[in-house]
This record gives sequence, C-alpha cells and structure tokens, in this order.
Amino acid sequence: MLTLGIETSCDETAAAVLRDAAVLSNIVSSQIEVHKKYGGVVPELASREHLRNLMPVVREALAAASVGLADIDLVAVTYAPGLIGALLVGVSAAKAIAYARDIPFIGVHHGEAHILAAHLEYPDIGYPYVALLVSGGHTALYHVKGLGDYRLLGQTRDDAAGEAYDKVAKLLDLEYPGGPVLDRLAREGNPGSVKFPRVQLEGFDFSFSGLKTAVRNHVALFKSRDQGLTPPFPVSNVAASFQAAVVDMLVERTMKAVADTGVDRIVIAGGVAANSSLRSKMRERAEERKVRLYLPGMGLCIDNAAMVALAGYLHFERGERSGLDLNPRPTMPL
Ligand code: KG4
Ligand code: ZN
Repeated sequence: MLTLGIETSCDETAAAVLRDAAVLSNIVSSQIEVHKKYGGVVPELASREHLRNLMPVVREALAAASVGLADIDLVAVTYAPGLIGALLVGVSAAKAIAYARDIPFIGVHHGEAHILAAHLEYPDIGYPYVALLVSGGHTALYHVKGLGDYRLLGQTRDDAAGEAYDKVAKLLDLEYPGGPVLDRLAREGNPGSVKFPRVQLEGFDFSFSGLKTAVRNHVALFKSRDQGLTPPFPVSNVAASFQAAVVDMLVERTMKAVADTGVDRIVIAGGVAANSSLRSKMRERAEERKVRLYLPGMGLCIDNAAMVALAGYLHFERGERSGLDLNPRPTMPL
C-alpha cells in the first residue's frame, strides 16, 4: 500500500511516499531563508510559500519514490496543530488529490506524527514507552501505551523548549532558528560558566520562561557595563550554560517519567531532539538506568512528511479515515 504524506503546519513544506511502513521518499523544502530576516516565522509568508512549493515538492517525492500519483492508495496530511493558513494549504491539497483520485484521505495530529517518527527507523520498538516531544511548538512527556493511546504526563506551562532556543538566540543577536546556532556555539563554551536556574515544577510540567528571563538579565548586565554583544561578550559560554539548563530539565523529567511509569523504553521526538547535548546526555542516562533509547536521525526529528504518512497509514490500517469536511485546527491536544 502506497501512502502520500503532506506536511505544511509551520515553515517546512514536505511530502513523502511510504510503501506500508517503509519510506520510499522524504522531501523537505525549508522556508528558513524567507523568514530569517524577520527573526521568526511570518504566518502569511508561510502560507504563500506552501502554496508555491507544495505541488513541486509532491512531484519530487513521487519521482524520488519512482511512482506516479495514480499509484497512491492513501493521502495523509497534518491538520492540527499549527499555523491555520499554512495547515489549510496542505489540507486543501490533500483533499483535492483524494477527491480527484477517489482514494481515502486521513488527517494527522502533528505531535503524534513526531512521536511515531521513531517507528520509521526502529519498526520493532513496541509499546509502552515514555515519549519526550520537544519542538518549537511542543514540550511534553507522554506515557505511550499503544497507537492512539497517549497519556499526557506533563507539558510546558509557558514556552516550548525550541521556542526558548529561538527567543534566546534572538536576544543574543543570533540567527533564526536559534536551536542549531546555539547548539553549535555551545560546543565551544563552558556549560558551567553561568549558573542559570533549573525549574523543577510539581509532577512532570516544564517551564522555560524563567530561564529565558535569566539569560535576558545576564545579557542586560553586560550591556549596562557598556560591553555590548560583541567580544569580549562570552556568547559561547552563555549558549553552553543555557543549553546545559534546558538539557538538565528535559533529561531529569524524562528519567522521572521512566521511574514513575516503570517502562523500559524512551522515544525522543521533535526538532529539539536534533540537539547534540540532549542526545548525548539522554544516551548516558538511559545507559545508566538500563532503558532503551530511541533517537530518530536528524531528518526524522525535524518537521517532515514521512512521519505524517506513517501516522496516517497506521490509523488507516485500523479502519480510520477522515471525511472531506475535515477542517484544520490551529490548536488541539494529542
Ligand atoms: O519539530 P520542528 O521542526 O518544528 C515544530 O514542530 O516546531 O522543531 C523546530 C524547533 C525550532 O525551535 C528549532 O530552534 C529547534 O527545533 N531545533 C533545535 C535544534 N535543531 C532544531 N533546538 C536545539 N538544538 C538543535 N540542534
Ligand atoms: Zn514539528
């Protein structure tokens, strides 16, 4: 069975083709260059870019999979959550393809797709597991008991981890998106140089806005001493110290979730799962505790359509599908 996956929820226009649960092609066209000069995603520009790029990206995904549109059996698309105008482009295209070809179509939750991405690389994961979903829009821990059975253990009460990276990068005059830039800078800095706060809320909730404010205050202190953000401002030390705080909070909560649920598997998902320090710290801690860690490759951590196609395919296999009256939703809990 061939599934065409479409993803347009934020600033990546993506299409992928799966044969059952195996990836035949996975094409991502990033809009980063368009949004960079504004320091973040401009929703209206994102919609227009999706409109311009989606069909070329779909054609590229079909060509890379050596199939035609006539061979596709199912269309899966992200319909929530995300930027409403951006989602609308993908959902409308998916409906049009399904209607024209008279094939089923299924709407997918973006967060669920991120979590299931790990199954593309490790088809034998099995359930249950603890999933840490960390992206620009989400930071949450789930006890995943099976497909569609996601118990929310905790989530951020303010910024998502990726959002904190992007905001901190902005206040350090660094490029958007901040995650990859800070990750790179952090490797050259001393993570112990600034003692940024680690917020430990009750249960499994996260909070990153206090940390962001601490970085802002630290920067303001430097500026007030008239040193500006040019050297000798130790930007790599600030990056490393900020990253150490984020990673500590994420790892600590995840390991607590593992202890409380008694599961022996962890899945890390979302754009921030591409972070080098998070990956290595999680590996260390998982090894210590003798739990298996499933970290998808970078290409499956960031927004992509292969994960969307897989989520759609797995739900379709269970007899689910969406009607053509499905509307995109900007927010929706998993
Ligand atoms: O999953 P994703 O591509 O889109 C959303 O669904 O949000 O995640 C994007 C987020 C951005 O905030 C970006 O700064 C962050 O992931 N990110 C990283 C890294 N690469 C991307 N954060 C930390 N370290 C990275 N290496
Ligand atoms: Zn995402």
